[in-house]
Amino acid sequence: MAPPPTSVLHASLTLPPPTITHASGHYLHPSPGPPILDASGGAAVSCIGHSHPRIHTAISAQLDSCEYAFAPHFSTPAYERLASFLCSSTNGAMKKVFVTGSGAEAVEAAVKMARQYFVEKGEGGTRTRFIARQRSYHGNTLGALDVSGHAARRAIYEPLLSGKTSHVSPCYPYREKRVAETDEAYVDRLAQELDDEFHRVGADTVCAVILETMAGLTLGAVAPLQGYLAKMKEVCERHGALFVLDEVFAGMGRTGYLHAWQAEGVTPDLMTVAKGLGGGYVPIGALMVSPKVVEVLGRGSGAFVHFQTYHGHPVACAAAYEVQQVIKDEGLVENCRVMGEYLGERLRARLGGHPNVGDIRGRGLAWALELVKDKTTKEPFPVAQKVAPTIHAAGLQKFEIAVLPGGGVVDGVNGDLIVLAPAYNVTREDVDLIVQRTAKAIEHVLGGAPTAKI
Ligand SMILES: Cc1ncc(COP(=O)(O)O)c(C=O)c1O
Repeated sequence: MAPPPTSVLHASLTLPPPTITHASGHYLHPSPGPPILDASGGAAVSCIGHSHPRIHTAISAQLDSCEYAFAPHFSTPAYERLASFLCSSTNGAMKKVFVTGSGAEAVEAAVKMARQYFVEKGEGGTRTRFIARQRSYHGNTLGALDVSGHAARRAIYEPLLSGKTSHVSPCYPYREKRVAETDEAYVDRLAQELDDEFHRVGADTVCAVILETMAGLTLGAVAPLQGYLAKMKEVCERHGALFVLDEVFAGMGRTGYLHAWQAEGVTPDLMTVAKGLGGGYVPIGALMVSPKVVEVLGRGSGAFVHFQTYHGHPVACAAAYEVQQVIKDEGLVENCRVMGEYLGERLRARLGGHPNVGDIRGRGLAWALELVKDKTTKEPFPVAQKVAPTIHAAGLQKFEIAVLPGGGVVDGVNGDLIVLAPAYNVTREDVDLIVQRTAKAIEHVLGGAPTAKI
């Protein structure tokens, strides 16, 4: 059947995706077709499920009071309330909030804030560089892509990127911890690599090190090893650079902590959040700024040299604030922890013995299955085989489930992932269904019999 005509510039020019006419709870309703179980919340976004009535009410009330005010000239109670909630959720680690329209915009704001911090300190002449990690993802706008380390996403835009960011190894034990190396020795090696990179580029040339607290969609739900973030921050501080944590994916409850760094006992100088902030009800992200950075700006120019027409949008702020109240009132951060453990357990029981499931990893309600051609050598499938995209398509077309396919985990190009990031309010029954349907989609594409019944 020929696809319907469309004026939308979809991801594929020839194959438009299914049209969702409505969504509720954990289900997306396409037309035509049966309901689809949303096991990834889109790109790890829909954290309280779809069509929550409290968010409807909050958005309507905000539209009734003030739909828009230009943030550089006016504040609104909605912006003030969200910012105050976010700061108090960090126990004083963060002092100011700049609300954006997306994760990439929050990262752009973080990059600009880091640069401005050093200009205000009188180090603007030298501090122009950033250090990030290979195979990281911080967004697709040019500034955010500049710090991102995902080769395939950067490739054709490389000539437009600044070349001011260098990338060190991520913390990725499945492939990069050496045989017989202890976790501690591996973490020390990564910290040494960062230190070496500071020396290579000139220790006083770096504005900031930027890392995902828990590597999300491109490396596939890799939680940091114990002590890793603390050691990276130590190196960063030794060279006077800022330590920036990107929690666009991992933040606002997904890992079983409201802020993923709270599990590590490491506070950033700047941090970003987005996906779980608005839960998909509105496009929103935020940069949060520590007292140390605010103080330098306060003693200097007293103003952040950055704004956008829609930053601090009151409807987005009101919706996000209500999403956060739902998370609090319904105990959803705790549910992420409990259901996350259950999801990991069920995935291991159902798919741990599959010959092509090389690794099953995650924390909270962020999980990834790394698919390999050979489990012993960890050889990936060639990218041309499109293993993860085919499993995603099979999930949608045959098993009524939406999972998130990923690629490039090995070298930025090859290496397939299936990421699961369901809403924080899933039940054990929802988790059972997610595991069952995901396993069926994988077995449909790769073969392999179930190792246990659920
Ligand atoms: C860690 C991280 N940072 C930034 C982004 C970019 O966010 P957005 O797609 O909202 O621009 C993403 C998106 O997946 C992400 O996972």
